[in-house]
Amino acid sequence: MRALAQLAVQARLAPRGGPPLGRGQLGGGPLEGRKPVAPGTDGGQSVPMRPDLRLRPLNDDDEAEALAAHAELAADDFSFLLDHDTARPWAEHVQLHRRIRDGVDLPADRVRGAFLLATTDDDVVGRVPVRFELNDWLATQGGHIGYGVRPGRRGQGYATEILRQALVVARSEGVGAALLTCDPDNEASAAVILHNGGVEDEPHTDAAGTTKRRFWIA
Ligand SMILES: CC(C)(COP(=O)(O)OP(=O)(O)OC[C@H]1O[C@@H](n2cnc3c(N)ncnc32)[C@H](O)[C@@H]1OP(=O)(O)O)[C@@H](O)C(=O)NCCC(=O)NCCS
Repeated sequence: MRALAQLAVQARLAPRGGPPLGRGQLGGGPLEGRKPVAPGTDGGQSVPMRPDLRLRPLNDDDEAEALAAHAELAADDFSFLLDHDTARPWAEHVQLHRRIRDGVDLPADRVRGAFLLATTDDDVVGRVPVRFELNDWLATQGGHIGYGVRPGRRGQGYATEILRQALVVARSEGVGAALLTCDPDNEASAAVILHNGGVEDEPHTDAAGTTKRRFWIA
């Protein structure tokens, strides 16, 4: 019985196609002995770079933090909040995103999707809208997923983890291959996409002359 249990443990720890890991190689905790690496860079054996990160919908208590993040990201000419109207109560903004997620009363130029905050404990680190479908603009310029991280939290792997989790959300809603786009000079964003297995497609330039690099993640 003990031998069987030992075999089961070894089978669980063995890398696919390789020998079982020796005692102490994995250690006591899930990350001990393993360097966190970006997804897609180590043959599928990766662990999350930021296991502390959670994606969740907006709620009625998020106004102050979300507005602070919105002001910070304005310096990058990037809108943290989408469809936000300062003249209207925050609760209406939360309701609007619930309707967009549920596909209720969608404006003509909108598709169903989730607007998610990226948090650690309850600090707001960033945000990510996940679109469950593409319209013409999304298929060429916007893509399925768009992330932003607050300036003070950058360079710590958060965007890479946000995209990893957002892909799971997209797939759970039936998105097959996800389209990601970025500005040609946004090397940090391109790195995040490549860390998650992005394969580059043709860029697209719209009528106004705006060019986007385009990547697919299967
Ligand atoms: C792009 C952005 C989301 C990256 O967030 P982040 O949390 O710092 O990203 P990560 O820490 O997960 O990874 C960034 C990667 O880009 C690299 N990077 C960062 N700045 C870079 C730069 N100027 N040039 C090249 N690579 C850069 C990092 O080294 C890292 O790669 P590595 O893991 O191989 O070292 C963040 O800068 C941001 O919110 N920018 C404004 C909004 C935006 O541009 N959003 C993307 C829209 S497509």
